[in-house]
Amino acid sequence: MTQEILVIGGDGDLALRKLYPAFFALEIAGQLDDVGCITGISRALRDKDSLLERMLPALKLLDGFSDEIWEKFKARIHCIQGDATDAQTLRVYHADLPEQYSGVIVYLAVPPKVFGGACRALRDAGLASENTRLVVEKPLGSSKATFSQVNQEMSDSFSEHQIYRIDHYLGKESVQNLLALRFANVMFGAIWGGNYIDHIQITVAEKVGLEGRKGFYNEIGALRDMVQNHLLQVVCLLAMEPPANRDPFMIRAEKLKVLKSLKPMTSEMIKRSTVRGQYIEGSVNGQVVPGYNDDLFDSNNSVDSEKSDTETYVAIRAEIDNWRWSGVPFYLRTGKRMNTRKTEILVQFKQPKHVIFGTNNSICPNQLRIQLQPDEGITLHFLRKQPGLEELTLEEAELNLTVPEARKKNNYDAYARLMVDVIKGDQTLFVSAQEVEASWEWIDQIIELWHSTDMKVKSYVAGTAGPVDAAVMIAQDDRQWSDLES
Ligand code: BG6
Repeated sequence: MTQEILVIGGDGDLALRKLYPAFFALEIAGQLDDVGCITGISRALRDKDSLLERMLPALKLLDGFSDEIWEKFKARIHCIQGDATDAQTLRVYHADLPEQYSGVIVYLAVPPKVFGGACRALRDAGLASENTRLVVEKPLGSSKATFSQVNQEMSDSFSEHQIYRIDHYLGKESVQNLLALRFANVMFGAIWGGNYIDHIQITVAEKVGLEGRKGFYNEIGALRDMVQNHLLQVVCLLAMEPPANRDPFMIRAEKLKVLKSLKPMTSEMIKRSTVRGQYIEGSVNGQVVPGYNDDLFDSNNSVDSEKSDTETYVAIRAEIDNWRWSGVPFYLRTGKRMNTRKTEILVQFKQPKHVIFGTNNSICPNQLRIQLQPDEGITLHFLRKQPGLEELTLEEAELNLTVPEARKKNNYDAYARLMVDVIKGDQTLFVSAQEVEASWEWIDQIIELWHSTDMKVKSYVAGTAGPVDAAVMIAQDDRQWSDLES
């Protein structure tokens, strides 16, 4: 008995860039044995050959590509030209399914405005039964209210246990490693919290700019694009209590508690605890790049030419109001057109309470650094004695917990990993409706305060580490951001 896969929006950007390569990586790894056909559906799809031709270049880039695997994969691919919001089109698909199939995985690789129509059509075509899994990804609304609307449209036809909401950060190896590090090592379990941790920093710095998504990005900005989902999911995994077991329900329930414990901002806090930035002309990779507003209003002129106040950078001092994390700030920052591409978590421990090494030796606190991108890595930073007969002098040392290059499985990007779980029916790495709602609630109040206090964006030169105000924000607490270029 096989699972059938239906990709709605089967010739779109997401499908071609991410989904078919993920499925192909699974084919290489022999992980599609329980999968039957992968059918793309779209109004613009002409025929199977043209779809194959369009997907091939991305597949050829994968390690392990061979003609033999390509032939096998090709045989699975089907396509339907039609409107996926029309139940009749889906009835034809349903009627053509093999007699022995165990379920259908439907990937909605289309904008959320199509979700409602597609879900209704799936239901009317008899494709919303218990053995259907529905996969969707952001943007899932742009506020709690708009999320609830999109979610309701899906929930009218599918139950929560059938809906797999992707946050691709949860498919990243190092993000998953957070659970292993925290809950498989007694050492971390014992010191994880405000008694020993001074603060945590989460950085997602990008060099890229708008990448052809001008209108969309200008509507949402960095806070909604990155913090509401990816950064808050990382916060959850760092801050959650140990779940009783690895049941998805247990893990998601613990993550939800973190989101619900995020301290709401107030109008007194907002200017002290958040920074909005926007890049102006500068240089990235040695190339001059235009400022955000010039990027927006270039020859395509896709956006109204009034100066935009959308943030392309955001820094936040977040607090989690619970027993474990009271008094431990979580500093979050993310931005486009920065000086480097780096995604990193820094857990900074406290200083020893009593120092016996004299004034010649400065004590730099222990740090756990988890790097997600561009390279993965986990390092623990310690102090030790310098060897020799001289008076005791401390030096910094690093314990490297990074998985050796030879053992890394480069073919598995986040999507491949997440698709394996959809095929298995494991929702652990997918975000529940309640989580999305809770994170929007926290984000909504920040946006409201930005409006009510008229908080404007601060400029930063493209190719730098972000606005000076972000450095000032953290310096108020006598702390500093980790160096992006180290
Ligand atoms: C997406 C955002 O969700 O994540 C993009 O919409 C961003 O703006 C991207 O560039 C970053 O993902 P990654 O995996 O490259 O860190």
